[in-house]
This record gives sequence, C-alpha cells and structure tokens, in this order.
Amino acid sequence: MSGCESYRALARFYDCLNPEVDYAAWADFIEECFARWLPLRPELVLDLACGTGSMTLELARRGYDMIGVDGSADMLAEAYARAGSGILFLQQDMRSFELYGTVGAVVCCLDSLNYLLGEGELSVCFALVHNYLDPGGLFLFDMNTPRKFREVYGCNDYILEGELPAPPGGSPATIYCGWQNRFDPSTGLCDFDLSLFEECPDGSYRRTDEHQRERCYGMEEILATLRGAHLEPLGVFADWRFSPPDSQTDRWYFVARANKPESQKGS
Ligand SMILES: C[S@@+](CC[C@H](N)C(=O)[O-])C[C@H]1O[C@@H](n2cnc3c(N)ncnc32)[C@H](O)[C@@H]1O
Repeated sequence: MSGCESYRALARFYDCLNPEVDYAAWADFIEECFARWLPLRPELVLDLACGTGSMTLELARRGYDMIGVDGSADMLAEAYARAGSGILFLQQDMRSFELYGTVGAVVCCLDSLNYLLGEGELSVCFALVHNYLDPGGLFLFDMNTPRKFREVYGCNDYILEGELPAPPGGSPATIYCGWQNRFDPSTGLCDFDLSLFEECPDGSYRRTDEHQRERCYGMEEILATLRGAHLEPLGVFADWRFSPPDSQTDRWYFVARANKPESQKGS
C-alpha cells in the first residue's frame, strides 16, 4: 500500500493531531532559502504531497501562486475545504505527477518522501521534480533520519490527543490516537498502526484503524539520488536556523537546485 492510499481515516483528524508543527516558522525558513539561492522570488510554487494544505495555504498567504499535489483524496478534501477555490489542488501520485509547465520551486514537507517505499521510487520522484522545475529552481524537502526510525519510532507506542473543532451549533470532539510502531532495520521499513478514537455526541467513542508505512533512507543514498536526477545539493540542515546535522538530528532539511543544460535555460 502506498502512503497516499493509507491517508484515509486519518485525514479528518490530521491537523488536530499535529498542532505542534509551526508552518509559519517553516515558511520563514523556506523564504530564507529562496532569498539565499534564487535570483528572484519564485512566482509559482508546487507543494508536493501537500496533505491538508497547511504549507500550501501559508505560502499562498505570502503571495505565491500555489499548486498542491497529493495522492490522497481525503487529505485534499480537507485542504480544499480550508483553501476554497484560489489554489489548484491535484490528486496525483508523487511517482507519476504531471504539471502544465514548470515552477520556480518545489517544497515537500513533513517526511512525505519517506512514504516512497519501493526500489527506485525516490529517483523517479526526483526526476519528475527536476523535470518540472525552472532551470536553477529550488527543491526543499525534509526526511526522517535513521536515528528517528531507530530511537523515536523503533518498537515504541504513543498516545496522541487532540480536539476536533466544533461543527456549527455543536461541541468540539476529543480525539485519541493510539500509535504503534514497528521498525525493521533489516528492511528499513517502519509500520505504523494507528487506532483513532473519536468522541461521539452521546459520549461514546467511534474507533477507526489505519496502517501506514515509511522507509528509512540514509544521507548518502538521498544525496546520490539527488545528483542522479541533476538536482544539486546546496545544503542539509538540522533545523530552520540552518544548523548542521549531527548524530542527534531527527529530521534533515535538504535544499537542492535543478541544473539543466544551457539549451533549456530561459525556455
Ligand atoms: C505526513 S503527510 C504530510 C502532509 C503535508 N506535507 C504536511 O506538511 O502536513 C504525508 C502526505 O504524503 C502523501 N503521500 C504519501 N505517499 C504519496 C504518494 N505516493 N503520492 C502523493 N502523495 C503521497 C499523503 O497522502 C500525505 O498527505
């Protein structure tokens, strides 16, 4: 099962279970990267695996024309409900997406690329990103580190709690998420079993289950795959302050530039 097929039951609860992600601060980092590595502020930006559109909306608010691509219809429905009609959302797979033309930058946030599981899928995705970037365009993405798979996911279990906003005339509903991890270092695959409990108006809880899987990639593999797709790595950081990664880093933030032959420049 690919990552996008698994984002079904979780879609409605995704934002309330991830309140700690500060997309405004993350967008500040993205804009700082634009200022450092692009001659001009990009006009059109693709948010790849945009999910419920948190980064898509944040960048749209800052004046970028946004395209959001995600494989999950349920995640996109949440994004569309938040954004209205001003943003182009496309239900497409990261391994085969098609755009109408090129964009100045591609962002891909919150370990979405770790959902690419099969041999060669990362390079297929990177080749498409390269294809749809303007010459010199930027690709910004993050991935979970091997340390995070070993130490944070491992075979550990967690309980998350959130609150769904109240519907008109109703009350907010409490959500609990039981999250069981099984990381297999021999395959590099990590299975997540999620059990979601949604409070109903009569006080009972409705349960839905979802299974997801991520793949652990090493730094050298990611860098080699970028280079193989003519995406030149410009930096890898441990946070949005451009700190260098170390052995304690749980998330790597990559910045890469699309190198294209002279003949494609300005076309
Ligand atoms: C962890 S969520 C991140 C969503 C969003 N980027 C954010 O910052 O909240 C991962 C997203 O990747 C999407 N996804 C996973 N595999 C995909 C694929 N093969 N093609 C397109 N989207 C995919 C899922 O549907 C989900 O929305």
